[in-house]
Amino acid sequence: METLQFKYVDESRRYAAYQDGREIGRILLSLNGEKTMVFRHVQVEEQFRGQGIAGQMLAFAMEDVKQKGLKVVPVCPYARKAFDNNEEYRAFEAPAKRFGIFVGSFRVGSYSRRLADLLEDMTPEGYVAEIIRIKDLPFYDQAWDTDGPVPDKIIAFRAKVKSLDGVIFVTPEYNRTFTAPIKNAVDIASRPMGKNNWSRKPAMVMGITPGALGALAAALELKKLLTVVNTVLMGQPEVYIAEAKDLFNEDGSFINEGTREFIQSVMNAFIRFYEKHK
Ligand SMILES: Cc1cc2nc3c(=O)[nH]c(=O)nc-3n(C[C@H](O)[C@H](O)[C@H](O)COP(=O)(O)O)c2cc1C
Repeated sequence: METLQFKYVDESRRYAAYQDGREIGRILLSLNGEKTMVFRHVQVEEQFRGQGIAGQMLAFAMEDVKQKGLKVVPVCPYARKAFDNNEEYRAFEAPAKRFGIFVGSFRVGSYSRRLADLLEDMTPEGYVAEIIRIKDLPFYDQAWDTDGPVPDKIIAFRAKVKSLDGVIFVTPEYNRTFTAPIKNAVDIASRPMGKNNWSRKPAMVMGITPGALGALAAALELKKLLTVVNTVLMGQPEVYIAEAKDLFNEDGSFINEGTREFIQSVMNAFIRFYEKHK
């Protein structure tokens, strides 16, 4: 008889589901302060979906959360929906301001993405940063907003941007400017006319490149665009990271403690900026 088991795996920060000893699902999470877990992804292997395993795994995790006296920020859409439908879970929800991180490269091993991954874990309690997927967005088409219909993906992306408390952009430099997916994402959420979802959002830009100039040109161009769409842009500190290939260990962590401290200080500055301008 097949047996389903659940466990919290401390070393890799996840709840895992096992069928006959084999891991078939997981809740990937990060810790936000000492008492708050951020549920980032709920995953079940494809052949085991549709059997209620994700729901059971979440129920196990919530029982553990309750016993340990913790709180949860449900970031992944599955967990969010489960919390919305379950009053008991909601009693354990930690309030948090939400920052979206927009990354300009989809390259496997992208330096920008590695920096964004680390940024996700750099917010103090009460704030959560989350990478927002822009890879699947179609190119903006003005006809959506004049003749319709607006694609579901676009409606969902605009709603997501609207829901954010602050926005963070991490861009590499392509031909001395920021990358096309970022421009597309900004255009999409700036419309329809009169419903600009970026307006008044505290914003920060980071440039990163393996080159020597730190994606300075890209970051400055992006700042110009973000001003046009009426974000409230943090001017200082500026972040232009050069020589990115020497920055990260194999496991994605920063090689140099000084770099980590600098990026953490920038995140702290952004939170102060947010509190002043929200
Ligand atoms: C089309 C293209 C143009 C580039 N132009 C620049 C540039 O103007 N300045 C720069 O520093 N690097 C430039 N690069 C190098 C990128 O910074 C490098 O590929 C970087 O790793 C891309 O970011 P990622 O690591 O996040 O994918 C360019 C790369 C490509 C593919």
